[in-house]
Amino acid sequence: MRTDIVILAAGQGSRMKSGLPKVLHPIAGKPMLEHVISAARKTQQKVGQGAIHVVIGHGAGQVQEKLRHHTVNWVQQTEQLGTGHAVKQALPGLEGADVVLVLYGDVPLINATTLQLLAAACNGEHLALLTVNMPNPSGYGRIVRDAMGNIQAIVEQKDANPEQLAIDEVNTGIMAIPGHRINDWISGLDNENAQQEYYLTDIVAKAVSEGATVVHAQPGKLTEVQGVNSRLQLSSLERQYQKQCAEVMMAEGVTIIDPHRIDFRGEISVGRDVLLDINVVLEGEVTLGSNVVIEPGCIIRNSKIADGVVIKAHSILENAIVSEDCEVGPFARLRPGAELAEKARVGNFVEIKKSTIGRGSKVNHLTYVGDAEVGTDVNVGAGTVTCNYDGVNKHKTVIGDGAFIGTNSSLVAPVTIGACATTAAGSVITKNVAEQELAVARGRQRNINGWSRPVKQAN
Ligand code: UD1
Ligand code: CA
Repeated sequence: MRTDIVILAAGQGSRMKSGLPKVLHPIAGKPMLEHVISAARKTQQKVGQGAIHVVIGHGAGQVQEKLRHHTVNWVQQTEQLGTGHAVKQALPGLEGADVVLVLYGDVPLINATTLQLLAAACNGEHLALLTVNMPNPSGYGRIVRDAMGNIQAIVEQKDANPEQLAIDEVNTGIMAIPGHRINDWISGLDNENAQQEYYLTDIVAKAVSEGATVVHAQPGKLTEVQGVNSRLQLSSLERQYQKQCAEVMMAEGVTIIDPHRIDFRGEISVGRDVLLDINVVLEGEVTLGSNVVIEPGCIIRNSKIADGVVIKAHSILENAIVSEDCEVGPFARLRPGAELAEKARVGNFVEIKKSTIGRGSKVNHLTYVGDAEVGTDVNVGAGTVTCNYDGVNKHKTVIGDGAFIGTNSSLVAPVTIGACATTAAGSVITKNVAEQELAVARGRQRNINGWSRPVKQAN
């Protein structure tokens, strides 16, 4: 069945008090609208392909720019005259659809499995509403049923009488509409209500009056249908989402010291017996092997970390590859293109960019390694700097296997240090050093015998 999906995202979101359109505010590091589009795609894979139409208005340019990597049909709604009016703008693109699912850009955690149920309930024939029972339904449209339990209408909070206000089954807003009826139902809407808006929800009464069946489905979790209207709701949904991610991780065999103090912002895959300590942020595509330990306060973005690695406290990794049994940190920074071979060690206040560090090599203290190839079993002394940039171009440093770089060496690239060569502490190395050689490039020490210190003069 061709299943088209309309995502409403034109509203201003005035309660966010923000220059950023509401649907671009992030949950787990991704715009809310991005979550909804992914759920829409996943749903179509299960129930049948179709187009995705995103209705935009407020901040339309910004929204399109931010989500330009998605092939969706952008629909402009220049004036926000209500949810029914918003769907109306998408009608031309919906011709030929069997099922039309309506989603909301500010209800980000809707799940494809729930939408699959809803689409199945619709089956191209019935109007299917996603409803939920809430202890405190304030603000939501209420589901009105007759004595037989058949859905009769949705009444908005602002239009409801006291008896209707007491109903605890509410409209989540999400629904599946038979494609061959949608034109009729939407075109017939009026705005005679408290908010003078064209309510999408009014199609329920219309469907009932035409003798169509109105069915319902319910979501697996309440978070799936929670909308975000304020920053308070945004943070609350973020925490609920994080808690769910932590629970999934723990079920996969990860130890999480405190599920309230950890953030997952991407696609994370993990091996067995991983330990994640507090205040760890995992972003983008992160792969953690088995027996990996991530100590407190680490940020790991788009990186691959192999089995047995320990990332010590307060280290930051971005686009890095760390092989088996390495130790990184505390306070290390691996920038894009950093690649550590097995058993390498990178210690405190070390920055590594676009460089490979060979097996068993140690870069333990206060060092910058950029655009370098470091062989196996190399020892890079404290305070070493690869001078890779001449102000215009970047140059490469090559350090052979078993070399020993003395403390506080400056390696002025392009330069090659041969295998098992040594540079003396404090050297500024501007010329290549051959295998086994010792390079000393510093002022010689002079000791002046009998020198007396200056004495403070009286004024
Ligand atoms: C809507 C439902 C209500 C339901 C609630 C669930 C209607 C009339 N009411 O109410 O029954 O309980 O959602 O959260 O549908 N939008 C547009 N263009 C517009 C108006 C809205 O794109 O002209 C978008 C908004 O950006 C938002 C969504 O539609 O993403 C919902 O609109 P909103 O005004 O917040 O509806 P509610 O009053 O919450
Ligand atoms: Ca709303």
